[in-house]
Amino acid sequence: MSEIVGKFEKKKLGKIFLTAPGPTTKQMFSQLLRARRDPSGFLVEMRKKYGNVVQFPLPILPVYLVTHPDDVDRVMRVNAKNYGKRTIQYENLALVTGDGLLAADTQSWKRQRKLIQPAFHHEAIMRVGPDTVLVTERMLKNWQKLPNNSVIDIDDDMMHAALEIVGRSLFGTDLAGDVEKTAQATLDALDIIVARARTPITFPKWIPTPNNRKLAKALKQLDGAVQRILDERKKITAIAGVDRDVDMLDLLLAAHDDEGGLNSKELRDQIVTFIVAGHETVASSLTWTWWLLGSHQDVQTKLQKEVDEVLQGRNPEVEDVANLPYTRAVVDEALRIFPPGWVVSRRSLGEDVLGGHEIPEKSVIIISPWATHRHPEAWNKAESFDPTRFMPDAPTPQKGTYLPFGIGPRMCIGKDFALLESVLMIARIAQEWNLTPAGSEPIPRALVMVRPAGGLPMFINRRN
Ligand code: HEM
Repeated sequence: MSEIVGKFEKKKLGKIFLTAPGPTTKQMFSQLLRARRDPSGFLVEMRKKYGNVVQFPLPILPVYLVTHPDDVDRVMRVNAKNYGKRTIQYENLALVTGDGLLAADTQSWKRQRKLIQPAFHHEAIMRVGPDTVLVTERMLKNWQKLPNNSVIDIDDDMMHAALEIVGRSLFGTDLAGDVEKTAQATLDALDIIVARARTPITFPKWIPTPNNRKLAKALKQLDGAVQRILDERKKITAIAGVDRDVDMLDLLLAAHDDEGGLNSKELRDQIVTFIVAGHETVASSLTWTWWLLGSHQDVQTKLQKEVDEVLQGRNPEVEDVANLPYTRAVVDEALRIFPPGWVVSRRSLGEDVLGGHEIPEKSVIIISPWATHRHPEAWNKAESFDPTRFMPDAPTPQKGTYLPFGIGPRMCIGKDFALLESVLMIARIAQEWNLTPAGSEPIPRALVMVRPAGGLPMFINRRN
């Protein structure tokens, strides 16, 4: 059945009008395995096959993949008020993070963002400098015990380091003793989210399926970590009062507006959100940066040269980051090729038009930084690793072309924190070590974040 409405020819599938090209139900079924095995690659292929706006053949809900930078910019920034976060992706995430900043829908988000933004102001995130160096030193001490040309799993090391840094910098807590358990709990919880998103039938949380039991255990673990963070803070405040550096947790505890401050449930949700959002994202970005550096030795040598010249053998500090433009460009380019958050989603609140296609209200919009970063209209030779794209003298990327941290009002609140941490850690390691790949080319596994399937073995060698 089809009818012409305005300039759009609409076909019907179940209750849904099809307003953009895309696979038929039969084609979609034949692609399901592929889509599960390599979802980020699948989205790129869909764009190549059907164009900038692709509609998936779901009979109950209009679902669109939007990849062109202009359309991405419209959804996330220009017309952001027309798009909320009531999607399966964020509803599942909320099982772990509650109504924290990342998963919150518009109304609740607005209040939270105003309350929380000051906690990410310049001075508050400066703590990340010394904390990053301290945690990196601790990791390098273990490397130093190994003979040259040993193989380490860089993915594993980056995961542990990133969690410790979030704990220390944001909450003044040494999560080191707890790292194993908290890291595993975070990963378990995120794994279940992915499993739920991939299964057509999901059981309510209270039915004790194996996955729900695993989720309950992981949540207990995470809640335990949050409680320890808060208990420790009480202890520190009792001993030192206010006579100490104010950190993000103090700012969260002090935040208030006309409606008051954050209650204990809201505090728990924000802390879990920061652990979830600030851990695996940064770790994934660092892991891929090392893989790219290892497989492009010329780039690694150039980065080492910059680091040596600027630091002259001393530890890096936050103030050095401005003088390490090549190191920063390497991180930026790694985030382009391997954006950890490879997919985000929105729900349209009213009608819109994207790429010439009518988008009805209540549509799900899938945006994939992974696919847009590979769009030929966004980037020249998109597949090649070229940090010079991000050097200060390179042209500023066009709007909607570069989205590792999202864009518009829902952009990542931890962007500056993550970039400082990444540049400092890469610089500190590069001062002493040279890394090269120890296995075959890693296969990116796109779950909540894009991580290398089965870890990432690399040879480590002292530079002198
Ligand atoms: C390389 C590291 C990181 C990457 C790639 C990343 C990526 C992203 C992306 C793509 C979004 C937007 C999601 C959307 O539009 O639906 C986002 C939002 C967010 N991120 Fe990050 N992130 C990183 C690090 C961090 C860190 C370190 C923190 C906290 C300490 C953090 C906390 C958040 C929060 C709270 C939001 C929600 C912001 C809002 O909606 O107001 N992220 N992040």
